[in-house]
This record gives sequence, structure tokens and C-alpha cells, in this order.
Amino acid sequence: MEIVPGRGARVCSCQRQKASGSSFEKAKLPQRYNQCHFNNYTTADPSQVKALRLAIQFANEYPAIERGLLFTGTVGVGKTHLAVSILKGLYERGFSCLFYEFGALLKEIQDSYNSNTKTSELGVLAPVLNAEVLVLDELGASKPTDWVRDTMAHIINTRYNNKKATIFTTNYADERQNDREETLEDRIGVRLRSRLYEMCQTIEVKGPDYRRKFDARR
Ligand SMILES: Nc1ncnc2c1ncn2[C@@H]1O[C@H](COP(=O)(O)OP(=O)(O)OP(=O)(O)O)[C@@H](O)[C@H]1O
Ligand SMILES: [Mg+2]
Repeated sequence: MEIVPGRGARVCSCQRQKASGSSFEKAKLPQRYNQCHFNNYTTADPSQVKALRLAIQFANEYPAIERGLLFTGTVGVGKTHLAVSILKGLYERGFSCLFYEFGALLKEIQDSYNSNTKTSELGVLAPVLNAEVLVLDELGASKPTDWVRDTMAHIINTRYNNKKATIFTTNYADERQNDREETLEDRIGVRLRSRLYEMCQTIEVKGPDYRRKFDARR
């Protein structure tokens, strides 16, 4: 609510915007994360305390920020929860944002490919390249074929060159955990990982898998 001097209280403009849904829907936030906010992110590990602090700081201080964010960590520690919460915070401050799960984005680009002109629809790509703040969820999850790498490189390089803020989440760590596991560099290539060092602050999130709370046997 906001106070209008001499007249009373009314629904704040940020809530009106939310209710109308237009830009909020344009951000393409997944339904599953409707209830995600900073205030219901619980912290079981010091890395989560730090991740929450940096996420809130980003949402409050954008555009006076130096770099985007790269949340890394195992499953269910709340990386996407935090990324979505940032977009909601930014949206309430009036910034236009966009959310994409990387695999879904690659599929949309692939589906829009025109075999006659050998080009993809700019309708899919342009908003991704131009969004003020973009979340790319699950970086590295798609099988790293040449096409996937080229497309990722095009998106990331364009945003890098235009100094646009991008927030990534990934399950892949920089350090090799064991012989069987791949690193983020293995998945996205050394050149892209290098750009991300400059584009993003890496935030390692550790903690229990929150989804296990829904295990009925517990
Ligand atoms: N620390 C937390 N506090 C509150 N809810 C959480 C927390 N961590 C995760 N959740 C909830 O658990 C579910 C899974 O979280 P989320 O998708 O953000 O995890 P993730 O780290 O992105 O996992 P993945 O690596 O599998 O993508 C969501 O419903 C999210 O809101
Ligand atoms: Mg996730």
C-alpha cells in the first residue's frame, strides 16, 4: 500500500503493475516459482546466507552494479529461487526482465529455424539479447554440441559486448568433484567460462536439497 497525503491509502503502483500482469508475464517466470521471494528463502548453510545477501543487494542496487551473477551448486539449494526473486525485485522497481531455462530457449531457437533462409527467428532471440536483465537458468545442462555452443556463445557474447546484466544458474562447479563429473568449463568451453569470469560474480551455494522436504516418508 502507499499513502496519498490528505486522501488515504491505496494499492501501491508496484502492486498494480503486478496485478495487471503484463510485464510480469512477459518476464516468463515459471509458474512453479510464483511463491518464491527473498523473505521465504531459508538458510541452512553460511553460503546460502551470503548468496541471499548478494541477491538482495543486486536487486536493490541494479543498475549500479559491476557484474551479473553466476549461482553454482548442487540440486535444490535454491539457485533458481534466488534468481527468480531478483527478477521480481527488479520488476517491482520498474526494470524489464526475462527468464529462460537455457534448454527451453535453445529448443525455441531450434524450432524457429528456417531451413530456407538458414536463419532463426529474431522474434525469439531479440528479446533475449536485448532484455535489461536476463536470467539463464541451468547453464551447461544441454548436451554441448557445436550448435549449442555456438548459440550459447552468440547470446553470451552479445550481452557481454553490450554490457547487459545476466544472471546464470548451473549445477556444474569449477573444481572437478571426482573423475566422473564434468566441470562448468567442460560443459560450456574454456572461452565462454572465461567471459563469465568478467561478466559475473560467481556465488557458490551449498546446502541440503530443499525438495527432499516434500518426501512423504520424512
Ligand atoms: N533455501 C530455500 N528456502 C526456501 N525454499 C527453497 C530453498 N531452496 C530451495 N527452495 C525451494 O525448493 C524448490 C527447488 O529450489 P530451486 O529450484 O531454486 O533449486 P535449484 O538450486 O535451482 O535446483 P536445481 O539445481 O535442481 O535447478 C523450489 O520450490 C524452491 O522454492
Ligand atoms: Mg534450478
